[in-house]
Amino acid sequence: MFAERTNWNLAPNRLSEALAAHRAAGKPLLDLTVSNPTQCGFQYDGPAILESLSNPAALTYEPNPNGLESARRAVAGYYAARRDDVSLEDILLTTSTSEAYSYVFRTLCNPGDELLIPQPGYPLLDFLADIQDVRLVRYPLVYFEGDPKAANDHGWRIDFRSLEQAITPRTRGVVVVHPNNPTGNFAKAPEMAKLNDICSAREIAIIADEVFLDFSLEENPRASFATNAGALTFTMSGLSKICGLPQMKAAWLVVGGPAQWKREALARLEVIADTFLSINAPVQLAIPVLLEQRHAFQKQLMSRVRRNLTELDRQLAGQNACTRLAVEGGWYAVLRVPAARPDEDLAMDLLAKKGLYLHPGHFYDFPSDGYLIVSLITKEAIFSQAITELLESLT
Ligand SMILES: Cc1ncc(COP(=O)(O)O)c(C=O)c1O
Repeated sequence: MFAERTNWNLAPNRLSEALAAHRAAGKPLLDLTVSNPTQCGFQYDGPAILESLSNPAALTYEPNPNGLESARRAVAGYYAARRDDVSLEDILLTTSTSEAYSYVFRTLCNPGDELLIPQPGYPLLDFLADIQDVRLVRYPLVYFEGDPKAANDHGWRIDFRSLEQAITPRTRGVVVVHPNNPTGNFAKAPEMAKLNDICSAREIAIIADEVFLDFSLEENPRASFATNAGALTFTMSGLSKICGLPQMKAAWLVVGGPAQWKREALARLEVIADTFLSINAPVQLAIPVLLEQRHAFQKQLMSRVRRNLTELDRQLAGQNACTRLAVEGGWYAVLRVPAARPDEDLAMDLLAKKGLYLHPGHFYDFPSDGYLIVSLITKEAIFSQAITELLESLT
């Protein structure tokens, strides 16, 4: 009766089952997987947010496939504040970055066509690809242990040799998560240039997910793909992470690249967007106010990330069973732990013995055992206690 594409194995895995049982038993939990910014104790300007949603203009329906001009102007303003010149005509509003991905997949791919995605990476893409009949092919990010002070040989890099080998006649694009979740690495200028060379030569697209772009540990803003011109480029972001407002369901897509490809892509995307007209009027009208919330939100979030990283490093300095990998930005840190047993067994054990919940590396498609992921947006007191418990268990 059902389509093969929805024939998923929906049985909960043993870690999520154990977590549900732990919660049901009312046992205390130290959760190092938190990702919902609205439940992390950040202060929001509640009155301004709620007032922005009651604009009387929302009583009139003005369908526009690309989204209301006032909202797109605010998105262009977001880029202008980073000194990126993005035109209103190149912006399309969507309800989420996930929806933006699905529009792009539909625009580029026939059933069975392929997109390259980074490994390790965020698990969201597998379901999106299944739903759109797209095949995902992994390209590795590799970690270099070099001198921490020499940015060139320390940290995560795209393995371009493997990326190029993964390209087939069915490849329609390369997904870059900038910075990647959970490894926290940004694409550097030479990597962006190389991606442009590879993608333009083969007439395939770059799909840049920039939901964490603003969360850099460097003071200067990181370059965005929104103004990339070397290859057809779809850049996505939204309020969910940028402003810590996932419940508003507002995101966008910027199309860039060589004029002919860009025109064609925008025309096709407009038909998809016009078919759904999915983003509602009150939220579109609120976008200028909601986007302004990012300043106060990002300040709080980055201050927490920095404090948690400092605390993590302080505790790590007192032992040698666990180290952390370099973090350039984003909301997560990757810990390297002894790979004596599968990461999932370790995570099960930590939950049972310490009430500690962490994601094992395989959740993010790490190719080997020995990795745990911790959320740096966890409240400081919980984070510190959880790291103490973790290190006690490992040593
Ligand atoms: C890398 C990345 N992209 C996209 C999303 C989804 O964003 P949205 O809420 O806009 O769909 C997430 C959510 O965690 C994410 O981590």
